[in-house]
Amino acid sequence: MKVQLLDLSGQYRKIRSELLAEVKKVCDSGHFILGKNVSGLEAEVAAYCGAKYGIGVASGTDALLLALMAADVKSGDKVVTTPFTFFATAGSIARLGAVPVFVDIDPATFNLDPDALDALLKKSGRGVKAVIPIHLYGQCADMARINRTAKKYGIKVIEDAAQSIGAEYNGVRAGSLGQTACLSFYPTKNLGGIGDGGMITTDNEKVAERLRMLRVHGSRVRYYHDEVGVNSRLDEIQAAALRVKLKYLDAWAAGRVKNAARYDALFAKAGAGRFVTPPFIAPGCCSVYNQYVIRAKDRDALRAHLSSVGVGSEIYYPVPLHLQKCFKYLGYKKGAFPASEKAAKEVLALPIYPELKPAEQKYVVDSIAGFYAR
Ligand SMILES: Cc1ncc(COP(=O)(O)O)c(C=O)c1O
Repeated sequence: MKVQLLDLSGQYRKIRSELLAEVKKVCDSGHFILGKNVSGLEAEVAAYCGAKYGIGVASGTDALLLALMAADVKSGDKVVTTPFTFFATAGSIARLGAVPVFVDIDPATFNLDPDALDALLKKSGRGVKAVIPIHLYGQCADMARINRTAKKYGIKVIEDAAQSIGAEYNGVRAGSLGQTACLSFYPTKNLGGIGDGGMITTDNEKVAERLRMLRVHGSRVRYYHDEVGVNSRLDEIQAAALRVKLKYLDAWAAGRVKNAARYDALFAKAGAGRFVTPPFIAPGCCSVYNQYVIRAKDRDALRAHLSSVGVGSEIYYPVPLHLQKCFKYLGYKKGAFPASEKAAKEVLALPIYPELKPAEQKYVVDSIAGFYAR
């Protein structure tokens, strides 16, 4: 048996004719950038997330960059985030000449540890403009505590919701838990395009208007530039494809949740507790399982074994950001963030896409149990 980490072919087969018809309509219309599909998608995604406004941009990375610009983050300002995330979170901060300041993660959820944020701001909060909590793997960070702390110190909260559209925190959806939120439509995401794409959601009308201006070179009236912005427009083909897919998003998320529960049960039955820790979902959180990530003993050997028996897996992420070469200038040393460094050595993402079959999941768990039984 072969089980890929992600196989989008089943999803594509199901929506192929609908998707291609919408793409064809865009091609026939001759209108390719920021048209009615983009504005339609912006309204639909904002409503889906429980936010007032959506601003379509070229990628999740650009969503972060623009959200930081709209938060008035400038060269030399500090922005807090965790070192256990995709590079874009901290990369966007650095791209603006701002300083990424890291705090460690909660080892149970892999998300920003609110106590660490509080301690950092208490000790050295000067110059901190914003915090970017990441809703990693599909589960929201502890937003009530993060928002409370951010309010106390007067800093802005930008959600990195790239992996978590549809996730809930105390009944509220990712995308409406901070001042702004950044979504990615990269093809592997739960709402994935047929190329790159992203969106920022917000309840703040002024911020939304400024973001619309910033994404077109800081221009409100064509060829008149109020600020130096960027070129980060969402195109009509992406938006049309994403509008088709958005209709299925809840059903796909439900499929992921069902598959996660099946893995949990299979691991429990296999008595895997000695060598594998399945994901922990915090009380009040509903994960959409963009990834199903276990902690595993002898992770790298297990991964090689899984590969040899046809099971795909991935490490999100093998090197915490404070130890990346490009961030050497920040001066962090090995050991600075023990929970992130430990996670980087232990995590392994398993196939979790909605079309995955029960027999395939059983094969994955049997293969893992087989590895530890050797
Ligand atoms: C946590 C996180 N932040 C940001 C991004 C950046 O999104 P994109 O790849 O659309 O630029 C991603 C996805 O790749 C991500 O997983």
